[in-house]
Amino acid sequence: MSHGCFLMGKHVQLREFLERTFSEAGGRLSFENFMAAALYDPEFGYYTTNISDVGGSRADFSTWATLADLGRPVARWIQEEITCHDWADQRVSLIEIGGGDGSLAHSVLKSLGWRNRRKLDYHIVDISPPLREQQADRLKGRKIHWHESIDSALDQAGGKAILFSNELVDAFPVRWLQWNGTDWFEIFVNYSPETGLKEEFLPCRDNAPTWPSPPPGQRIEVHDSYLRWLDSWLPELQQGSLLTIDYGGISVEEIYGGHCAGTMRGYFRQQRIDKGGIYQRFGTQDLTCDVDFSKLVEHGEAHKIETVRLENQLNFLHRYEASSIPSTEAAERFYVLHQRKR
Ligand SMILES: C[S@@+](CC[C@H](N)C(=O)[O-])C[C@H]1O[C@@H](n2cnc3c(N)ncnc32)[C@H](O)[C@@H]1O
Repeated sequence: MSHGCFLMGKHVQLREFLERTFSEAGGRLSFENFMAAALYDPEFGYYTTNISDVGGSRADFSTWATLADLGRPVARWIQEEITCHDWADQRVSLIEIGGGDGSLAHSVLKSLGWRNRRKLDYHIVDISPPLREQQADRLKGRKIHWHESIDSALDQAGGKAILFSNELVDAFPVRWLQWNGTDWFEIFVNYSPETGLKEEFLPCRDNAPTWPSPPPGQRIEVHDSYLRWLDSWLPELQQGSLLTIDYGGISVEEIYGGHCAGTMRGYFRQQRIDKGGIYQRFGTQDLTCDVDFSKLVEHGEAHKIETVRLENQLNFLHRYEASSIPSTEAAERFYVLHQRKR
């Protein structure tokens, strides 16, 4: 089959997939379900099938883990937590969630050094088969336990672990809401082969944002799916620590000040894609948005997880003596949440 015929075949399959998916859903999908399909459908999703790399010229986007030294500060944080839990004399499970191209694992393990590595079990949880392959390639020679879901990693760790993620939360599907001046509306997406993907607005029925007076037209993204995912496994964590690194802010004012259209965006071949562009290239571009860390703190505390510290990445990098500190402006857009359960 020629390359052209192959692409045409893929195009037809995608059109049929969209027709089937939208018709089974009654004609429209909530934005959250649309984003879930675009990123995670087992046959057409970006992370599940089409992503080729993270960082580098073949990739659609880069992350701190692929651009800068995140491994050394994370390794120092891990050692501090091992001491804090009084686990120095026992085997300790590290669980990295969303391993990307394996850069963070590579640099954390290197920074921990041979003596510490002997007493550690390193688990990577990743939903993406192409990225798990990349990780295996980069981490050849290292003893790593791979998992498709957090439940299996936590089970192997016996409910006690040190968990960390970089730029994971921003990859979870979000509800997308718009304020019309008096009420919140939830964004849905409909599809027809003639008009493509189009937005629809329905009254927001539950969990409306508590933002007192947003400007009319303001859009806001809500990471309810990440909180539900936490609900599914946090009760199984008997003891441990969590480090969550991502871009975003600690209040709606900080995240959305000057961003009336919200922060939803795509990344394709290292280009940022805004506005209607997010509905193009279904399954072949990344979709992401800023994270509201105040919600993660609140949710953790509801699960009896102590908030040890929430700080911007610059402070974190200084605290744990990163070997290179990136530009102040960029690092201040990232936050690091350190939580603990005893
Ligand atoms: C934006 S990338 C960040 C990758 C890496 N942490 C880094 O900083 O380079 C998001 C990562 O999370 C993974 N991921 C997304 N959703 C996941 C889920 N529900 N469970 C596990 N991994 C997930 C993706 O496959 C990918 O490896």
